[in-house]
Amino acid sequence: MTISTPASRAAMPLDGGARNLKELPARRWAALGIDEKLLRCAVLYALLGIGMGLAMAGSHDGTNRGVHVHVNMLGWVSMVLMALAYRQFPRMAHSLLARAHFWLHNLGLPVMAAGIYMVLHQLPHAEPVVAGGSMAVAASFACFALNVWLNAFSPREAA
Ligand code: HEM
Ligand code: HEM
Repeated sequence: MTISTPASRAAMPLDGGARNLKELPARRWAALGIDEKLLRCAVLYALLGIGMGLAMAGSHDGTNRGVHVHVNMLGWVSMVLMALAYRQFPRMAHSLLARAHFWLHNLGLPVMAAGIYMVLHQLPHAEPVVAGGSMAVAASFACFALNVWLNAFSPREAA
């Protein structure tokens, strides 16, 4: 019996029969899979979160810690884990729940981060902003969770 694990699978073939990486065409955003889109978004959140961390460390001012934490943990850590899940379980990537997750996560998180900033700096009208953003992010995780339970399985190879 052969069980296909990620490590035992053949490496992904290069697109379009290209012989080396230089021959690969640049891929348009619209042509990317949800895993690739999430990975690209995640690295942007990582750069933003790390930039904030450096600014906090440099200024010895931790006021924005809550923004830093959630940009890093929801934008980088969670998003990259979700990208890998979509990569591992293609049935999940093709579900409408994946699109709902993608948009709720990427529209909700900037609003949530702005709302946390507003709370931490005691700006007016912070509550509805942070609540709206957080609910959208929570809804995005709910879509992802439902998608896992409905679609996260791979057909096993015949024994
Ligand atoms: C160069 C990169 C980074 C720098 C310079 C940095 C800097 C900091 C600083 C200065 C604090 C403490 C703020 C305070 O309380 O005064 C902090 C907290 C934190 N950072 Fe970062 N950070 C970096 C990257 C990251 C990354 C990549 C993650 C997550 C993957 C992360 C997660 C956290 C968390 C969870 C806390 C809160 C810890 C707690 O609850 O006490 N940081 N960071
Ligand atoms: C919609 C989702 C989420 C909401 C509404 C939320 C909300 C909160 C709140 C209200 C706090 C306390 C802030 C304070 O009193 O200073 C907090 C802290 C924290 N959260 Fe979240 N959270 C969410 C998701 C997450 C996730 C997914 C992670 C990790 C993967 C995470 C990591 C943390 C950490 C490490 C802290 C401590 C930060 C610190 O030391 O200041 N959160 N979160």
